[in-house]
Amino acid sequence: DASFCDPKNNNECKNLGSQGGKCAASCCLPYRPGTKIVDFKRPSRSSPLRVRPAAHLVDPEHLAKYKKAIELMKALPADDPRNFIQQANVHCVHCDSIPDHDIQVHQNWFFYPWHRWYLYFNERILGKLIGDDTFTLPFWNWDSLEGMMLPSIYADPSSPLYDNLRDAKHQPPFLVDFDFNGTDPGFTNAQQIDHNLKIMYRQFFSNGKKPMLFLGSAYVAGDKPNPGGGSVENMPHNNVHTWTGDRTRPNFEDMGTFYSAGRDPIFFAHHANIDRMWSLWKKLSRKHRDFNDSNWLKTSFLFYDENADLVRVTVKDCLKTRWLGYKYQDVKIPWVKARP
Ligand code: C2O
Repeated sequence: DASFCDPKNNNECKNLGSQGGKCAASCCLPYRPGTKIVDFKRPSRSSPLRVRPAAHLVDPEHLAKYKKAIELMKALPADDPRNFIQQANVHCVHCDSIPDHDIQVHQNWFFYPWHRWYLYFNERILGKLIGDDTFTLPFWNWDSLEGMMLPSIYADPSSPLYDNLRDAKHQPPFLVDFDFNGTDPGFTNAQQIDHNLKIMYRQFFSNGKKPMLFLGSAYVAGDKPNPGGGSVENMPHNNVHTWTGDRTRPNFEDMGTFYSAGRDPIFFAHHANIDRMWSLWKKLSRKHRDFNDSNWLKTSFLFYDENADLVRVTVKDCLKTRWLGYKYQDVKIPWVKARP
């Protein structure tokens, strides 16, 4: 279960499941005494699926809504769990910079399901703020030739989608480097594209043949928190984070480190593409299957929803995006033929 801080009580942690403890003041979720927890209900199947578009293909109308929604989210009271920084903190409390604080959702088999839920609620909140139930987050299609750079909708300094803690050099049309480790490789564009597509193929197919290899290693109560991340989580997911963050900051803030990554709106586009990878993984081979381990399927997480109610969700309820009412725009997948 997630932990919540009670600002009225010296930020004392109220772990709604088990033991308490102190929260890091920089990163805790507002706790409202008396908030009741409801179990997640799947949206009705009659409504059409919402389509998450590729960020480089977003149309002006969608962009206007998105900007408006982020603006409204930033303007919510600081202690509203739907507020932009509070949303970023939802990610922060699930990171490993706070020992014994909470469940770690990286480097283990909760990576895909937890982030899927995180984006789901973030998207529902944004939709609610603009009164549009069909609103979707765009995905940063970095695995495509046209999307392999920071999407221009995030690069406009006058936009609420902008974040100034990003790498100054990695502005469009500079290409992403899938194994970026702090220094730019100096490739030509053709070399960089070839390099990235081969990494994509290798991580997705060669290194991701089994659930454990693609989704991450099992992590159950009592285990040490980092048993091992999935192939695509390790690369390019981690590298795209670092590549985006500001290299002149100690931890490549914002995107380059867990506590601050969610403060950059591009986080959600990056993770929508990661989320799309989970769906693609199952779609591109019949051999690719989710775990059927009940320790995984039955694990639950807590999130604030669009009405600021606390919702308990489980891994088993998020295995298909259509169960959550959305899908991804169909785009070409250039790396399926990029066997190294
Ligand atoms: Cu929660 Cu991209 O990390």
